[in-house]
Amino acid sequence: MRHFLTLKDFTKEEILEIINIAVDIKKDLSAGVYKKQLENQTLAMIFEKSSTRTRVSFETGMFQLGGHALFLSNRDIHLGRGEPIADTAKVISSMCDMVMIRTFEHSMIEEFTANSSVPVINGLTDSYHPVQLLADYLTMLEYGINENAVVAYVGDGNNMTHSWMFLAAKMGFDLRIATPKGYEVDSDVLEEALEIAKLSGASITVMNDPAEAIKCATIVTTDTWASMGQEDEKDERVKAFKGYMIDNEKMNLATQNAKFLHCLPAYRGQEVSEEIMDTHSEIIFNEAENRLHAQKGLMVWLDKQRNK
Ligand code: CP
Ligand code: NVA
Repeated sequence: MRHFLTLKDFTKEEILEIINIAVDIKKDLSAGVYKKQLENQTLAMIFEKSSTRTRVSFETGMFQLGGHALFLSNRDIHLGRGEPIADTAKVISSMCDMVMIRTFEHSMIEEFTANSSVPVINGLTDSYHPVQLLADYLTMLEYGINENAVVAYVGDGNNMTHSWMFLAAKMGFDLRIATPKGYEVDSDVLEEALEIAKLSGASITVMNDPAEAIKCATIVTTDTWASMGQEDEKDERVKAFKGYMIDNEKMNLATQNAKFLHCLPAYRGQEVSEEIMDTHSEIIFNEAENRLHAQKGLMVWLDKQRNK
């Protein structure tokens, strides 16, 4: 049985297997074909943070695969009142076939997983957001961008950045990360990613100058400056990230026809200008839709591993 907690635990081939299932599922859906590959299965979705895309894509995806999804916020279940994580994991996994968790500390999902008898999927922690990167890679491939990509990530060194680092390291593309001083990526994650990158030929470089990162990029991406749980730091972060907004001037430093990706929600006028969001809206909303297809691919893949 496999879990999906970070991309670090997956080989390039496995990531491509998941993506290939997603591609087929997306084709089927556009032809009106629904294969009930997870008939009668239940996905428990534990949300300790807000969500639009993750909730809608997992719930809809499970339904389209013939299964059912349960939305469990921490206001609804006893986890939020102090029932131990291990007990919660044992109970939920005794009744459900898969679990998706969005939470704060990554150690919470690791403890849950250690006590779960069914596959667990990371729907975002403070440290990683791997399901988003499956959708992002699917989107890159659809636009003809693969191992040759030069991705510039400009903004906060956060859960999205860490997942981009593992995606680049596994798939073998170049990633250039520009963060303000004091908002760098986690140094342990960087060390791990660089170690993996040696095997794939990926290059991961960190810097503080956005222009330097964007130069030569075929993809430019960013994320909110204040992630969920950092609401109190919003004002201070807006000041610290001055000069990091992706606008036309910065995008013009990238290669001609460079694409812009954003996991959403986007804060126009902060990490990205209104204009950039408008110009690149087709790819951004396709990226969002790809959450549905990529995660259906993931759930089908995880189910296949269990039945091997
Ligand atoms: N990108 C993403 O995970 O969006 P939600 O927070 O809306 O789920
Ligand atoms: N870094 C953001 C991603 C949202 C999808 C957050 O954690 O809030």
